[in-house]
Amino acid sequence: MLIDLSNKVAIVTGAGRGIGYEIATTLASEGVTAVITDIRQDLLDAAAAEWSRNGWAGLQLLCDVRKPDDNRAVVAAVDAAFGRIDILVNNAGVANGGRVESLSEDNWDLNFDINLKGTFLMCQAVIPVMKRQKSGRILNAASFAAIMPSIGSAAYAASKAGVESFTRVLAGELGAHDITVNCYAPGMIPTAMNGFADRTAAEQERLLDTLTLRRWGSPKDVANLICFLSSDLAAYITGTMIDVSGGKFATQMPWVAHREP
Ligand SMILES: NC(=O)c1ccc[n+]([C@@H]2O[C@H](COP(=O)([O-])OP(=O)(O)OC[C@H]3O[C@@H](n4cnc5c(N)ncnc54)[C@H](O)[C@@H]3O)[C@@H](O)[C@H]2O)c1
Repeated sequence: MLIDLSNKVAIVTGAGRGIGYEIATTLASEGVTAVITDIRQDLLDAAAAEWSRNGWAGLQLLCDVRKPDDNRAVVAAVDAAFGRIDILVNNAGVANGGRVESLSEDNWDLNFDINLKGTFLMCQAVIPVMKRQKSGRILNAASFAAIMPSIGSAAYAASKAGVESFTRVLAGELGAHDITVNCYAPGMIPTAMNGFADRTAAEQERLLDTLTLRRWGSPKDVANLICFLSSDLAAYITGTMIDVSGGKFATQMPWVAHREP
């Protein structure tokens, strides 16, 4: 069975680097017209060069997901250029941390404004187009932190738990229009956001000990899930969160089996 995404049009937010970039390039290489948005023009310029090198269809558009006008402008531009929007991946996110006692209000707001409100605003902008089509796939980046938060991640974890709840409500509201809405929970994927790869060897070992598969996730692991959820094969999946974490804490002490296989 093959996943056929040809002729679909996708928007991926915050896709200038990291997981979002991998999602967008994977979709593009599968024949999707992949529109990248990001808050950083330098990242968009680099992506534009990659698109042109590979002959991929799409656009690179500046967009701060916190701004309703930016989101509406992206949707209008994509609708005008390609006449439809099949897939929206709300990937843009930040993880500014700090323990509650010392967490600044600014960092609290930043997590909520980008991770949760940005997702809401982009969905609000795209809904009329997907309703018109009577089809669509909305995929929201949650996090394993929504399932089991870490010390110092109150703002991030609460915003991502909000993404899960928001996803379920929106799935309920859009089911009658044949639009599915799901979120996904990556576990530990070394990127600029978390700097896992820069930690000491001992710290990395401790983190890896939480994973059933005992290896870091890769952006491709998430991109592959997005391809499946975007496809016709996933037509009956909506209103849920899919864990793509290598089995993080699937058992209490996953490292035991790696030490004594
Ligand atoms: N890396 C992980 O292990 C992990 C785990 C769980 C969830 N996630 C989620 O996956 C998503 C991507 O994470 P990543 O690790 O690739 O991070 P990253 O920092 O590498 O990429 C985030 C991207 O979002 C963009 N961005 C930031 N603020 C923005 C805004 N206001 N508007 C538009 N774009 C903005 C950045 O410029 C960047 O390109 C995030 O939502 C994150 O919470 C990541």
